[in-house]
Amino acid sequence: RKVAIVGAGAVGATFAYAMAQNGAADEICLIDLNNELCKGQVLDLSHGLPFYPTINIYAGSEKDYADADVIVITAGAAQKKGETRLDLLKKNSAIIEGIVDQITAQDSKATIVVVTNPVDILTKIALERSGWDRSRVIGSGTVLDSSRFKYLLSEFFNVYVGSIHAYILGEHGDSEFAAWSMANISGVQLDEYSKQLGIDNWPEKKKEIELEVRDSAYHIIDYKGATNFGVGLALVQIVGAILKNQRRVLTVSYHLEGEYGISDICLATPCLISQNGVASIIGTELTKEEQEKLVNSANILKREYSELKR
Ligand code: NAI
Repeated sequence: RKVAIVGAGAVGATFAYAMAQNGAADEICLIDLNNELCKGQVLDLSHGLPFYPTINIYAGSEKDYADADVIVITAGAAQKKGETRLDLLKKNSAIIEGIVDQITAQDSKATIVVVTNPVDILTKIALERSGWDRSRVIGSGTVLDSSRFKYLLSEFFNVYVGSIHAYILGEHGDSEFAAWSMANISGVQLDEYSKQLGIDNWPEKKKEIELEVRDSAYHIIDYKGATNFGVGLALVQIVGAILKNQRRVLTVSYHLEGEYGISDICLATPCLISQNGVASIIGTELTKEEQEKLVNSANILKREYSELKR
């Protein structure tokens, strides 16, 4: 079971470090345009070999796409001063297309997991460029945002985070939203539980928590320049679910083709992940307000996508 990681920067290397400890992969191959960086990361990661489950970690090349089971793309340019969001999107879109061309040229049978931002648009770009089935070209979506949401709920209610089921859906970005109708603590709806606890400002708290999730990345980037640990672990859950054929539900970015009344765009909804990527969407009845928010996310992403293609 081989994982190829394209982009050995902060996110790629942190994911490699977490994946190596997870034990689901036998081989991790790092690929980066910056050879020195890639060599350094591989050497540093390899010094942990006595402490990981048995694994082979090495610097690779595009040839490694041929027999990879999962290819995780974290390669991208960072936003430069004075550069617009659209400039960055154009740059990263060209990078993703180049990588996907190399992957398809190797006749790879892998599942592609796009992480580079803006992840939903770039997942759509990767899917179109590959010509592959939508099940095999997915994005990291809001798996990270959903874990941030669970963390904040666990702090607020003082309940073990593993007992909380909650999802952030839509765009991985400003239009994402909390699917409160699906959120529960071991089956107990949060409105009900907050009533039991006598929390009368719960409606305001909900808004605060949702905002805090949405702005988490901005805060971390202000503090330390980039985010890497949370996303590294979120990726282990996605890639581990594929390698172990776990049939696990995760909010990855997936190309909708009529589900939720939405088509032709990738965004995050709860998806069942198996050895071939997304096996199916776990459809759910959203409230009217949530459905509108999902459609709003889709419309924003579609606008951005058509700007890019103009
Ligand atoms: P970074 O700048 O540390 O690493 C990016 C790496 O990509 C660099 O080492 C660069 O040399 C490499 N690269 C650029 N073009 C390449 C190409 N054509 N082929 C191979 N390698 C190439 O950036 P960092 O912090 O690792 O972030 C990576 C991406 O992940 C960013 O787009 C960031 O916004 C995104 N991200 C996504 C998250 C999510 O939840 N989807 C969360 C956190 C970050």
